[in-house]
Amino acid sequence: MKRADFEEKLATTAKTVGDFLDEVLKSNQLVAGTPQRLLGAMRHGVLNGGKRLRPFLVVETARLFSGDAKAALQVGAAIECVHSYSLVHDDLPAMDDDDLRRGKPTVHKAYDEATAILAGDALLTLSFGLVSSLETLPAPARASLVTLLAKRAGAPGMVGGQMLDILAGDGRSEIEITRMQAMKTGALISCSCEAGVILSGASDEERVRLRHFGDLIGLAFQLADDLLDEYGDAKVVGKATGKDKAKGKQTLGRIYGRRVLEDRLDALVAEAEELMQPFREKAETLLEAARFVAWRKN
Ligand code: IPE
Ligand code: IPE
Ligand code: MG
Ligand code: MG
Ligand code: MG
Repeated sequence: MKRADFEEKLATTAKTVGDFLDEVLKSNQLVAGTPQRLLGAMRHGVLNGGKRLRPFLVVETARLFSGDAKAALQVGAAIECVHSYSLVHDDLPAMDDDDLRRGKPTVHKAYDEATAILAGDALLTLSFGLVSSLETLPAPARASLVTLLAKRAGAPGMVGGQMLDILAGDGRSEIEITRMQAMKTGALISCSCEAGVILSGASDEERVRLRHFGDLIGLAFQLADDLLDEYGDAKVVGKATGKDKAKGKQTLGRIYGRRVLEDRLDALVAEAEELMQPFREKAETLLEAARFVAWRKN
């Protein structure tokens, strides 16, 4: 698959996800009783662009296993709510203290800190509502998805990884950095691939294979993020760069340099290709996603 075709496909899914979330955030069920200011901040946090990579992975994994496309969209949107909440909180002054996200002011800049905290909380709870209300899926599949999301979003996953990020200073070892990255970023990415398998009713063996695939691209994703922070162009990236160094955050890019990291990205993509070999050309879109993640510019 050509890179341009892939990017068009990603952009099409991003638009569908954005429209879906816009509808959810306009629905009576949500609007009734929600303070206007909170709703505005939630919309700012989740409808502000973004590549929508995680929903894309859910949708494409479900396609691989002939799962229900509508259910995949809703599960993908739910994971995007968790991801967006994590960014709203990650940007807070008490955490990374960033002013720019997805090329726009961060939620605490556009509103205020307390509102940003609450908007993040509300996006997180919304995500569980979206998964549990998926009536087209059998109840056991819905329960598995809720359990998976709780684990990957929570203390043993993304939130725990953010804690490790805050605790660690400049003295981190490679093993510690890799573990932190796998948790703060990899957990939600591999959750997206695994969720696509669960909602399609495919086997446990496929579930493990796609989880592993997600782990590989999760690692590639955060390595690329660290490279972008060090060498990227803020205008293209859509967020400030040079922050890891300024904050004394040790990254693998800073330990090994760009060349070594680029070799590592190649190796991760090669491993992903090998893992998906049984699916032959049916896995081509997911593999192009892996290459995109490794070589992205934003
Ligand atoms: C950024 O994620 C934060 C990390 C986990 C490194 P993305 O690069 O997917 O951000 P958006 O959603 O496209 O803005
Ligand atoms: C964030 O990692 C990971 C999250 C769970 C939000 P970073 O702090 O490196 O993400 P950016 O660079 O702000 O997007
Ligand atoms: Mg951070
Ligand atoms: Mg940050
Ligand atoms: Mg970063």
